[in-house]
Amino acid sequence: MSNALISPLAIAPMIDWTHTHFRFFMRLLAPQALLYTEMQTPHALFNNPQKNLYFDPAEHPIALQLGGSVIKELILCAVLAQKQGYDEINLNLGCPSDRVQAGRFGACLMAEATHVSDCIKALKDAVDIPVTAKTRIGIDNQDSYDFFSSFVFKLVEAGCDKLIVHARKAWLKGLNPKQNRIIPPIHYEYAYEIKKDLGELPVVINGNIETFSEINSHLHQVDGVMLGRLACNNPYAIADIHQALFKQSRALSRLEVLDLYLAYISRDRHKYTPLSIFLKPLLTFAYGLPNSKLWKAELLGIQQNKDWSKLHNLVTIMQRIQLNTAF
Ligand SMILES: Cc1cc2nc3c(=O)[nH]c(=O)nc-3n(C[C@H](O)[C@H](O)[C@H](O)COP(=O)(O)O)c2cc1C
Repeated sequence: MSNALISPLAIAPMIDWTHTHFRFFMRLLAPQALLYTEMQTPHALFNNPQKNLYFDPAEHPIALQLGGSVIKELILCAVLAQKQGYDEINLNLGCPSDRVQAGRFGACLMAEATHVSDCIKALKDAVDIPVTAKTRIGIDNQDSYDFFSSFVFKLVEAGCDKLIVHARKAWLKGLNPKQNRIIPPIHYEYAYEIKKDLGELPVVINGNIETFSEINSHLHQVDGVMLGRLACNNPYAIADIHQALFKQSRALSRLEVLDLYLAYISRDRHKYTPLSIFLKPLLTFAYGLPNSKLWKAELLGIQQNKDWSKLHNLVTIMQRIQLNTAF
């Protein structure tokens, strides 16, 4: 089993966030974290594999998350991903959006354990890299531990190599995806119990985890934690957490990260990525510092005016923000 598969720290798949540039940024903050792509559908991959499968070599270890349930399509995607060098294929069994339900994938597949296990088995037969699943703990009124565990055991019997548990159920009707990440209560005990029941199989816990002390206590029960919104809202917290988890590694300072990320932007500018996409991970990079609002305003100004030439000022601006000196 590869080390990547059992990394104690993973950055969650997040649509419109965990694109290649965000992941590169995360890699600077968390050298040993396992990074997930945003969910990719087979259609998106087939339409533009060059863009949608792209990752920078620095992003390793990296997992591709797939959203789909047509076995032939999933197999083709997994084979392409393996060829591209991905370290893991992850199947999305947690997204509750209407669009995703209409396509018969994501969380609604929790009602179709036999079909999901066929998908996992087909993926396992098609590729040599680990095949994993990210699931909720239930859907609608099917939210007992027995329901969850019998679903999971089907996946494991089919060969699933790791289970990521977003420890709340999803309501398939009446809540949008954002509400479905807030309203259903968290039940970490489902992930703890399934770990006991599964024994060796790696279990990663996800949902509302924000501090190292929370992480530490989860790691007494399961093999890893996956962080999502924290990475978007307070990215530098990821560097602190990584440093606390991997004591031998030295966390880069905010200025060092910024310097490296700006060098990356100037290296990759020729790929015609809009400035706003490059800057998105930086918007919250001063979270918690005095003047963090000024930092965001500066970035939004640069973004609005598409003023690439001002990027090199950002290091000085961050220095001033950190020193809390006047602008
Ligand atoms: C903007 C956004 C987009 C998301 N997109 C995906 C996705 O593509 N695939 C997925 O499995 N989960 C997705 N999620 C859910 C996260 O991976 C994670 O399970 C959830 O946010 C709970 O973790 P957190 O409390 O650490 O944020 C998304 C979450 C957010 C906030």
